[in-house]
Amino acid sequence: MPTIESILNETRVFPPSKEFASKANLPSFHAYQTLCAEAEQNYLNFWAKRAQEQIVWHKPFTQVLNDQEAPFFQWFSDGVLNVSYNCLDRHLETQADKVAIIFESDEGEVIRSTYHDLHQRVCKLANALKSQNIKKGDRVVIYMPMRIEAVVAMQACARIGAIHSVVFGGFSAKSLHERIHDADAVAVITADEQVRGGKRNPLKSIVDEALSMADAISVRLVVVYQRTGTDIRFNPVRDVWWHELTENISSQCEPEWVDAEHPLFTLYTSGSTGKPKGVQHSSAGYLLGTKESMQWIFDYKPTDVFWCTADVGWITGHSYVAYGPLAMGATQVIFEGIPTYPNAGRFWEIIQKHKVTTFYTAPTAIRSLIKLGADLPQQYELSSLRLLGSVGEPINPEAWMWFYEKVGQSRCPIVDTWWQTETGSHMIAPAPGAVALKPGSCAFPLPGIFAAIVDETGHDVENGKGGFLVIKKPFPSQVRTLWRDPERFKKTYFPENMGHGKYYLAGDSAYRDADGYFWIMGRTDDVLNVSGHRLGTMEIESALVAHPLVAEAAVVGKPHEIKGESVIAFVVLKGQYPQGEEIAQITDTLREWVAKEIGPIAKPEEVRFGENLPKTRSGKIMRRLLRTLAKGEEITQDISTLENPAILEQLKYPSK
Ligand code: WTA
Repeated sequence: MPTIESILNETRVFPPSKEFASKANLPSFHAYQTLCAEAEQNYLNFWAKRAQEQIVWHKPFTQVLNDQEAPFFQWFSDGVLNVSYNCLDRHLETQADKVAIIFESDEGEVIRSTYHDLHQRVCKLANALKSQNIKKGDRVVIYMPMRIEAVVAMQACARIGAIHSVVFGGFSAKSLHERIHDADAVAVITADEQVRGGKRNPLKSIVDEALSMADAISVRLVVVYQRTGTDIRFNPVRDVWWHELTENISSQCEPEWVDAEHPLFTLYTSGSTGKPKGVQHSSAGYLLGTKESMQWIFDYKPTDVFWCTADVGWITGHSYVAYGPLAMGATQVIFEGIPTYPNAGRFWEIIQKHKVTTFYTAPTAIRSLIKLGADLPQQYELSSLRLLGSVGEPINPEAWMWFYEKVGQSRCPIVDTWWQTETGSHMIAPAPGAVALKPGSCAFPLPGIFAAIVDETGHDVENGKGGFLVIKKPFPSQVRTLWRDPERFKKTYFPENMGHGKYYLAGDSAYRDADGYFWIMGRTDDVLNVSGHRLGTMEIESALVAHPLVAEAAVVGKPHEIKGESVIAFVVLKGQYPQGEEIAQITDTLREWVAKEIGPIAKPEEVRFGENLPKTRSGKIMRRLLRTLAKGEEITQDISTLENPAILEQLKYPSK
């Protein structure tokens, strides 16, 4: 089988400015390389040193890595700590009055919570949970709006050693039930309602519905935070109000000291097939990954106002809202709403209002904001920004350029961070003071991360050739197992053909360019095979997005008698949905454009237009559904994780 071919040719390079580099935590390429060399020479020492420096240990560790039962790796396993202590208590002596969270509600109300205040809230809820007999190792499902209380709930679990499983507030009763059941959760923490973009979502009644389904008998407690005060059904045996439960309770709570490997949380992530996977993370290794990346990649400074827009329902909201920034003692923004409400300037307004310095968001948000108002950022005062970040999907070079020029005013580096729910923290990303940026590339692995690109036999491919992205050595923040499914864990992430079961297989295709930069090409499940050429989705999509008319694009393969597969492009235009003759005209233009930009091999056979693309609730394009549509088949797959099911109708037939 041929390796995956790269066809994109992006040549723009943006070296760090002297101004930025001179103040950066990693101020030069040399500084970055020195750390990498240290990790290469003795990676156990490298990680041991960082774990000693970064984590407050209740009892220090003596063993760094235990790989006796690989791939079930253990890090720092005889050390004892508490993650909530590391995020809150440790700051109380030095900066109790520093603002930890600037919260802005959907309606625009602002609440500030200091480290002292946050600590008290967490201790109260932790004591309340203990009073309800929730103990170390119990699973607690958190189904909350994006508010301070969501972070408090996670931290309170961490404080008492309960394992949280956050379920994004947009998931249905069925998905919620599935996750509760799989985890055998004893408690659910939720709210009466969630408010996003002016719309209310009845979280509590969805919880009721999930708990009324068969096999949800493990849950004996539902804690309800009152968000809107709407009438809800109340089960007096099971349900309690958050405010009543925490009313007359101590704001001191001795943390539960746990082993380094004690599971901090599980988070379900959907694969392309089968039931969602309960990705299980550790306490110490996970915490270490989030802290190092805050410093190396986000170049964290105590004066920063950090804003990661991800919901706590996703890994990004775990690592860079609930844990990483607090572990650093940062001030961060948490926003309850959506980027387009009450208008498409909301993000820029928040940056202006709270003087955000570090802004971390997803390509899907960037592309939708371009579509809704490419010139809007100009109307706001964005001079507080110093660093931008992107995560979740490949950022197409043109979207990158817009982000760089219009939002960052050509002053702020963009850190394109490649990582996954399973890796816990950044894996490949440019240290912004050290590495010259290339739009669309996530640049280089973090120090201590041995990423590589290999063929299907696990051998390195040369630069310029695409292949499978792997990480060759274990690292502290990696997934420990899949909840109650160790076999699936091994099979999915450590297949025998990859370094004899030693390499972590990410499931993405990628290549390195002549300078060694990593470029992610898409999920390996989505690779196209056109006339024997295996092509990733990302490059063709990026070529389409580079056309001035196009806001978003997704490409898939459709079986073709001669070529094996032909390319079908699903396209969202910046302006109106095209009508009549325009359809054929724009189709021709885009086909020729792709042929010219990257070559005739990638030329779409067909272009279908839509007002949007089918996306998961975390904003990723669901190409497997598009593949079904391209073939003209009915969709029989599970679409419960789809954000906007209605869009499938529009994309079902060739545009006319
Ligand atoms: C994709 C999100 C290209 C990739 C943290 C990965 C990216 C999957 C990037 C994990 C990036 C994430 N460039 N692709 N910077 N970041 N991805 O588990 O396919 O929600 O495997 O974790 O998103 O998504 P997850």
